[in-house]
Amino acid sequence: MRFIYAALAAALAHTAASSAVPAVLETRVIPAPIDCEEYGKYIGIRDGTGAEYSVGCADLTYACLKLNGTSIWSHAECVAAATCQGTRGVIILNQCQNHNVAHAASIPNLSGAVYATIVGSAAAAANAPITQQNYIDFVFGQMSAAGVTQWPTAAEVISNWWTPIKTWTATGNSIPYSNFNDWLHYSETDTD
Ligand SMILES: *[C@@H]1O[C@H](CO)[C@@H](O)[C@H](O)[C@H]1NC(C)=O
Ligand SMILES: *[C@@H]1O[C@H](CO)[C@@H](O)[C@H](O)[C@H]1NC(C)=O
Repeated sequence: MRFIYAALAAALAHTAASSAVPAVLETRVIPAPIDCEEYGKYIGIRDGTGAEYSVGCADLTYACLKLNGTSIWSHAECVAAATCQGTRGVIILNQCQNHNVAHAASIPNLSGAVYATIVGSAAAAANAPITQQNYIDFVFGQMSAAGVTQWPTAAEVISNWWTPIKTWTATGNSIPYSNFNDWLHYSETDTD
């Protein structure tokens, strides 16, 4: 009898220990901060590349994060940051500071206002695609607004940031709204 009680007590103790669910859940949540820390170190370096660090891109990413938004593709700062940082880094860094930021595919569409900032309002109304010159002007405009002091050259903007997007969308020398919007949502995943 005493043995049974002892066994029962042991079983209960075991149950109590293994039902420490919060501890288990906590260890599952821990990878997020590690990701966040890791991504924090790559601010200014395009996702998954050994590309050179760009101070201007880092400034854009910080300008985006400062807004702490959830519809991040409604913020020109975040769209510009995504083009140089990569969508994954920008999305994850936003998720790190605000858990309401959805996964890549569920983030609301690129806003018409931001598209008009990129191509101009007449071109946006005519549903015209983004040209290389539109993109260069957009990135430099957003860098200027972000107070950038160390600028990339236009050649760097083209080869490091515009060309990879153009390659992904495969729409020739310009990129229509829907393809650019797809690039924002599907070019990289924000989960491992
Ligand atoms: C960002 O917003 C989230 C959700 O409202 C909030 O919990 C968090 O403290 C904010 N972070 C910053 C840095 O403002
Ligand atoms: C987002 O844009 C895509 C096209 O790029 C469209 O098919 C979809 O309906 C839009 N979603 C919303 C919620 O507007």
